[in-house]
Amino acid sequence: MGKITIAVDGYSSTGKSTIAKRLAAALNYVYVDTGAMYRAVTLYALDNGFIGTQDDIPALVKQLPKIKLKFVPNKETGRSEMFLNGENVEQEIRTMRVSRQVSKVASIGEVRTKLVEMQQKMGKDKGIVMDGRDIGTVVFPDAELKLFMTASPEIRATRRYKELLDKGEKVTFAEVLKNVEERDRIDSTRTISPLRKAKDAIEFDNGDMGLEEQFERIHEFAKRVIAREG
Ligand code: DC
Repeated sequence: MGKITIAVDGYSSTGKSTIAKRLAAALNYVYVDTGAMYRAVTLYALDNGFIGTQDDIPALVKQLPKIKLKFVPNKETGRSEMFLNGENVEQEIRTMRVSRQVSKVASIGEVRTKLVEMQQKMGKDKGIVMDGRDIGTVVFPDAELKLFMTASPEIRATRRYKELLDKGEKVTFAEVLKNVEERDRIDSTRTISPLRKAKDAIEFDNGDMGLEEQFERIHEFAKRVIAREG
């Protein structure tokens, strides 16, 4: 049976990466978290003073060729981790410091062009599950299966808040909810590749459904699409 391309888009903390990761493992496909790529560029911009108290977007754009991103599988967990210019930044890119600035960096056209090109290369042989915001609309508009994940901001913020507390970050629920809502707003109103449900994407609201149950449904559905289109 041939392989297909699976695009998973949606708002932050909708459980899309959990679903996408499990789907890739179950199908023996490659999993790519494109949010990690935007986060790594954001970390670079923060650490080099291109964003923060004062922003210098043109200077950041000039430095883009110097930003080398790579997913490297962790030998123990089998999960791929983000490396920025040779350094493992998997933990750091998930902090609030990065979350606060990432939507701004993701709205820069040159950043998107660079990352979309990398993503298209990664998926050229199909057999990939890619999660992000513009995968079904821009990166792989011809993907055979497109999923669009939603849930209310409160449910998503609750998930995110728990994750951050588990990691030992000192945050308040109100701050996390504000960040989730703010990122929704910026991500879906930006001029270039805004977060949109592709016309042919199937929407899943996982507000009141456990991720396990949702995964089973999506997995069954994916197998049918692969049998038909693969
Ligand atoms: O999936 P995430 O929350 O880790 O993504 C971080 C940010 O990156 C998100 O606020 C929007 C941006 N992003 C994007 O613009 N396009 C993508 N394909 C993936 C993420």
